[in-house]
Amino acid sequence: MAAAFPFASYELSDRNGIFLGLNMYNRSPAFLDPYNDYKYTNGNIWLGGSSGAGKSFTLQCLGNRLRQQGKRVIYIIPKKGHEFRPLCEQLGGLYLRMSPSSKDCPNIMAIRRKSLDSYAGLKNLAARDDSVLAEKISHLIIWYSLQKRDLTDEDKNNLDSSLVECYRQYGITFDNASIVDAFGHFRTMPIIADWYELLKRNPETKHLAVVLARYVTGSASAMGQRNDLDLDNKYIVLDTSGLPDDMMLSGIFWATDVASDLIMDNSTGLSALIADELWSLVGANSNPLAAGFVQEMVKTIRGLGGIAVTSTQGMQDLFGLDSGKYGKGILDSSRIKLVMQMEEQEARLIQNVLNLSEEEVRQITRFRRGEGLLCIGYNHVPIAFYATQKEYTAITTSSTDLRMRRNPNE
Ligand SMILES: Nc1ncnc2c1ncn2[C@@H]1O[C@H](COP(=O)(O)OP(=O)(O)O)[C@@H](O)[C@H]1O
Ligand SMILES: [Mg+2]
Repeated sequence: MAAAFPFASYELSDRNGIFLGLNMYNRSPAFLDPYNDYKYTNGNIWLGGSSGAGKSFTLQCLGNRLRQQGKRVIYIIPKKGHEFRPLCEQLGGLYLRMSPSSKDCPNIMAIRRKSLDSYAGLKNLAARDDSVLAEKISHLIIWYSLQKRDLTDEDKNNLDSSLVECYRQYGITFDNASIVDAFGHFRTMPIIADWYELLKRNPETKHLAVVLARYVTGSASAMGQRNDLDLDNKYIVLDTSGLPDDMMLSGIFWATDVASDLIMDNSTGLSALIADELWSLVGANSNPLAAGFVQEMVKTIRGLGGIAVTSTQGMQDLFGLDSGKYGKGILDSSRIKLVMQMEEQEARLIQNVLNLSEEEVRQITRFRRGEGLLCIGYNHVPIAFYATQKEYTAITTSSTDLRMRRNPNE
């Protein structure tokens, strides 16, 4: 029946939408406008599929097309970040590789917002004066706690007061006006070394300084340095895949914190946050603080008119932390879901959440690269994603393609 009906995908030809590919039932083109909030209660997109199904490829196609429409696009890539570099450079984006030896790390201590009240900006209201510094400090304590798990309440209090003091030395207080100078420019911000010095000086907090030593005198000292990166760029890739295992979680949190600042700043217009391999943040090996932060961010973006696009590889892993609370939270707050090829037992784990029929489960196991079942509520449409030649050349990671390119006569 569907094949006989030319407009079966009429729900997927959003005006002003980005092109996705062809409806596999009737070959009609599918366009999606995730920013249309009359149509989608939220425009967040979630992608699932096994390794090689085409998740990273699709994310980049989406990012590229959103960018072409003038949206600001920020990626967080915890695994195989190098895959995102060629397209980023082609588009004049900013590719930041966050690793211990790299000077590409945006200062985690920098405050990048003048007010927490982005919503007021949208509605032309006077901003509420909730302290930006207080929020920064709470984020820094989460970041710290990802590296030293058994913090006592006393430790947390000590970290808190050391940070208040650290910012005070730079003239920054809980009064939001103190974040900028007389010309409205951000003040010079402290760096990790400043915080470290403060902790080290006091015998009661000396033991807390140890964690930071790595970023000051240790192997990751490049990461803690002051630099001036142009974060106004409209296409930014934060690649955390070069971090060693024991710094992974805190490093991704670092990237997420920077990304969230940039996204929440409404003066730059509509934006998209794209996070590949999300399980590394909300999955089994994560930590409730970090997972909660990410989930909160995905929810908040919507209120500001932005969207979050996330992808996951293992369904088991996604539901691994706190009996699946965060994984479910992310799925629930993503109205648009795209299921790419995965094994049957993985598909079964999301069958109920997505109301997949038996036939659809079978279809999912048989998808080829770049094919996926787009699920928006009860509307399910299989789509073959199309990339332009230019996109394909920039994005493909297929070793056959890369070999052919080096050696065209082969
Ligand atoms: N829509 C598509 N059109 C053409 N090739 C694709 C498409 N999607 C994926 N591929 C190919 O499959 C390869 C692997 O995809 P990738 O996105 O890296 O998988 P995943 O991130 O799910 O592990 C890509 O490098 C590309 O060569
Ligand atoms: Mg991938």
